[in-house]
Amino acid sequence: MKVLIVGSGGREHAIAWKVAQSPKVDKIYCAPGNAGIGQVAECVPIGAMEFDKLAAFAKEKEIDLTVIGMDDPLVGGIVDVFEKEGLRVFGPRKNAAILEGSKAFSKDLMKKYQIPTAAYECFDSPEKALQYLETAKMPIVLKADGLALGKGVLICSTREEAKEGVKTLMLDKQFGSAGNRIVVEEFMTGREVSVLSFVDGDTIKIMTSAQDHKRAKDGDKGLNTGGMGTFSPSPFYTKEIDEICKKTIYQPTVDAMKAEGRTFKGIIFFGLMLTEDGPKVLEYNARFGDPETQVVLPRMKNDIIDVFEACVDGTLDQIDLQFEDNAAVCVVLASDGYPEHYEKGFPIHGLEAFENKSGYYVFHAGTKMENGTFLTNGGRVLGVTATGKNLKEARANAYQATEWISFDNKYMRHDIGKAIDEA
Ligand code: AMP
Ligand code: GLY
Repeated sequence: MKVLIVGSGGREHAIAWKVAQSPKVDKIYCAPGNAGIGQVAECVPIGAMEFDKLAAFAKEKEIDLTVIGMDDPLVGGIVDVFEKEGLRVFGPRKNAAILEGSKAFSKDLMKKYQIPTAAYECFDSPEKALQYLETAKMPIVLKADGLALGKGVLICSTREEAKEGVKTLMLDKQFGSAGNRIVVEEFMTGREVSVLSFVDGDTIKIMTSAQDHKRAKDGDKGLNTGGMGTFSPSPFYTKEIDEICKKTIYQPTVDAMKAEGRTFKGIIFFGLMLTEDGPKVLEYNARFGDPETQVVLPRMKNDIIDVFEACVDGTLDQIDLQFEDNAAVCVVLASDGYPEHYEKGFPIHGLEAFENKSGYYVFHAGTKMENGTFLTNGGRVLGVTATGKNLKEARANAYQATEWISFDNKYMRHDIGKAIDEA
């Protein structure tokens, strides 16, 4: 069969790599893709938001299944456009992708269906938000309602900071219209864990747990980024916590979406905080996490095409989702200066060291090819993943593999997975 993947980051490279393992697949396209993805798929120069062009391409090439990796096209309704054209597509429709697209929607949903999350208020007016902050307990968290590249969340320790935050989001519109409405929520403490799942509208199957490191610098210092590294599984996500989440969070979310007439098919990524009062939802995403995908998919045993198709067809209950009893760590190699100012266009050396080396992977996030050479082309450049029999071994392997790669201004965190030592 022929598969089209929409997106261009490390996540889409990992998806393309996994799709390529399926004996059912004989051709993969990726739009727009990147240089690394070009090794497993044919990249097509169509943007992820060009829905009509993508659908026309899928028709012309007789694509059997399109997989949407990114949040923007999902929230924008790409799945509806494909379905209207009679094309098979994996991902939630627009009315379900709102689970990620609007934090106010997701908070109201959780409140209505008693899914544990931080207490909150929503505000459309900066005056009302400022008034509320006069007496609210600090620290407090401000979130832009809409998509903001994972950066529209402000943790404010003082009232002054919080007021400044309202100005940043609602008046200066640092994240554009995403900040027309904000969610102001209680600050929670605890371990964070990401749990990805496949959903077919009724049935939900949990993948394995992972943890991301969002800050740019060691010790969780520096600015928020798209993610600097991940490990999987999370040793803090115990069987007992899994049981609680299944009962109070996972199935209730799928059932709530269905009850609202917003049947969800695709990936739900649960951003959880393990608080003293039990696990609570920090956020929902309607797609694979990046870089969580780079540690989760190398551990997945199933043919991913079977699972995608079961989600589309509503037969996920018949899938026995299985993961290797091992661990994986991904260290992101970035351009120094990310997420602010950085230079790019430097040649990348050492990629060939990963060829045919089992248990080691290099997923491309921001690279391009010029005259047969891979060049850096973004803030996050590569995701270096290694597996191991446990987290410590996986971490040692991953850091060893980061040494194989060199480029000017190469930057990485040195403490990915350090929390493992406390487990
Ligand atoms: P989100 O995009 O909603 O996951 O938020 C980004 C990051 O902000 C999370 O990964 C947490 O580290 C932090 N965060 C979000 N909401 C809260 C909260 N209510 N309490 C504490 N930290 C939070
Ligand atoms: N790694 C966090 C995200 O994909 O949103």
